[in-house]
Amino acid sequence: MSVRILAAFAAFAALVGAASAAGDPKPAEIFEKRIMPIFKSPNPSSCTQCHLAGVDLKNYILPSHEKTFLSLRDQGLIDLDKPEDSKILRLINMGESTKGAQLINEKVRKLEVEAFTEWIKASCADPALRSAPKLAAADLAQPKRPNEVIRHARIDKVVESFEKNVWSQRFRCFGCHSPEGSQNAKLAKENGEEMTWIRREGAEATMNYLLTSRIVNPKAPDKSLLVAKPTNQVKHGGGQKMIVGDMAYKGFRAWLEEYAKTVNDKYASANDLPKETPRPLTCGSEHWVKIANTPPAWADRLLQVTVFAWDAQKKAWETEPCAMNDRPVFGKGKLWQHDLVLLAAPDSPRAQAFRGNKASLPAGRYLVRVHVDLQGRLAADWKAALGKAEYVGEKEIEGRLPEGYGSMTVIEAGSLKR
Ligand code: HEC
Ligand code: HEC
Repeated sequence: MSVRILAAFAAFAALVGAASAAGDPKPAEIFEKRIMPIFKSPNPSSCTQCHLAGVDLKNYILPSHEKTFLSLRDQGLIDLDKPEDSKILRLINMGESTKGAQLINEKVRKLEVEAFTEWIKASCADPALRSAPKLAAADLAQPKRPNEVIRHARIDKVVESFEKNVWSQRFRCFGCHSPEGSQNAKLAKENGEEMTWIRREGAEATMNYLLTSRIVNPKAPDKSLLVAKPTNQVKHGGGQKMIVGDMAYKGFRAWLEEYAKTVNDKYASANDLPKETPRPLTCGSEHWVKIANTPPAWADRLLQVTVFAWDAQKKAWETEPCAMNDRPVFGKGKLWQHDLVLLAAPDSPRAQAFRGNKASLPAGRYLVRVHVDLQGRLAADWKAALGKAEYVGEKEIEGRLPEGYGSMTVIEAGSLKR
C-alpha cells in the first residue's frame, strides 16, 4: 500500500472510531465545557465547606486536559478500570453525607461530581491517555500544602479547638450572654439582641455565629471583641471579666490565634502546626474560696488559686491541680473570692464524674496553693505561666469543701505557709 492509502486508511479508522462512540463527546471537549469553568471560576469549590485553607479542587486542574488527567492518574486519584471509584470523586463527595450541608454547597458539589465523572470516564476509555508516559513530578497539579496541614485546616478541627479552649470556659460569660443566663433577658433589652452571642444549640452553633459576627477578627486576633471586651480594652458593659494572661484569656486567645492562622493559610508544614496538648476537662463548681485580708501589694494583681488533691497511694500531692481560678484581687476590699473551676485529665475517672454542668470535689485532703502576679508578667506575655517568682504560699484543707456563695472556704492571706 502506498503511503497515501495508508493515511487514508488511518483517517477512515479514526472516523469509524469516532462514529462508534456514537456522538459521545471526547475528553478534550468535556474538559473545555465542564472542567475549565470550575478551574476559572472565581467562586470557591465545594471543598471549602470543610477545608478552610490548604486545598481546593482547582489545585488539581491544569489548563490542558491530558496533563490534568495524567496528573490525577499519577497521584493515584484515578481508577483506570473503575473510573466511578476514582479517589478524586470520593474527595468531591466527602461533603455529601454531612448533615446541614448548605444548599449552595450541594449544588456546587453536584456540578463538580457530574463534570468530573463524565470527563474521567471518557478519558479512561481513551487508550492513548491511559498509557501515556508519566508526567514529571514537577508538573503534577496538587495542593501546595502537605496532607497534615490539609487535615488540620478543617472547620471540624476549629470546632474541636473551640470546645476545648472557649466553650469549656463559657461560665464567666454565661450569666449575661447566654439565653439561659439569669441576666440575659434584661441586658438584651437594654443592649440589643447581639448581646446573646452564646447559642442555646451549643458549641458549634455559637462558634458559627461568632465567626460571622464582628466579635472575631481574623486579621488581628488579639483585637477581637471576644477578648477585647471582657478585658475592658474596649469598654465592656459587663466590666472586667478577664485579664490578659489568665486562664480564660489563654484559652480564648489560643483559639483565636489558631483560627486566624488557619484561615489565613499560615501553616506551611506539619512542623508549624500547634502541638496537640491535651487540655484538662473543665467544669464549673459551687466551691467558693475567699482569700481574706490581702496585703496592699497584692491589690488588683492577678491572684491564682490552684488546688491539689492528696494521692493516698503515692503519699504525695498530685502533680496536676484538680481545681483552680485566677482573677484580680479586689484591692479596695482587701480580698479575693471566686468559685473554683474543676479540672480533670480527659478520660480520667475524675473527668467521668464531672460530666454534666456543675460538679463538686469529694471530701478529702487538699492543698490550696496561691500565686500572685506582682510584676505583671502575664500582661507582658499572655502565654506565660505563674511560677516560683509569683508563689506566695499554700494551705492544707481537710474534709469537704463547702458549696455555695454563702459558705466559702475562707483563708487568711497571712496564714499561707511558704
Ligand atoms: C464534609 C467535609 C469535607 C469536604 C466537603 C471535603 N473534605 Fe477533604 N477531608 C475531610 C476530612 C474529614 C479529612 C480527613 C480524613 C482523614 O484524616 O482521614 C479530609 C482530608 C482531605 C485531604 C488529606 C488527605 C487525606 O486523604 O486525608 C485532602 C487532600 C482532601 N481532604 C481534599 C479534599 C478536596 C479536594 C475536597 C473538595 C473536592 C474535599 N477534600 C472536600 C473532609 C472534607
Ligand atoms: C455581668 C454581665 C456580663 C458578663 C458576665 C459578661 N459580659 Fe460581655 N457584655 C455585657 C454587656 C452588658 C454587653 C453590651 C454592652 C457592650 O457592648 O459592652 C456586653 C458585650 C459584650 C460583647 C460585644 C458583643 C457585640 O456583639 O457587640 C462581647 C464580645 C462580650 N461582651 C464578651 C464577653 C465575654 C467573652 C465574657 C466572659 C469572659 C463576658 N462578655 C462577660 C455584659 C457582660
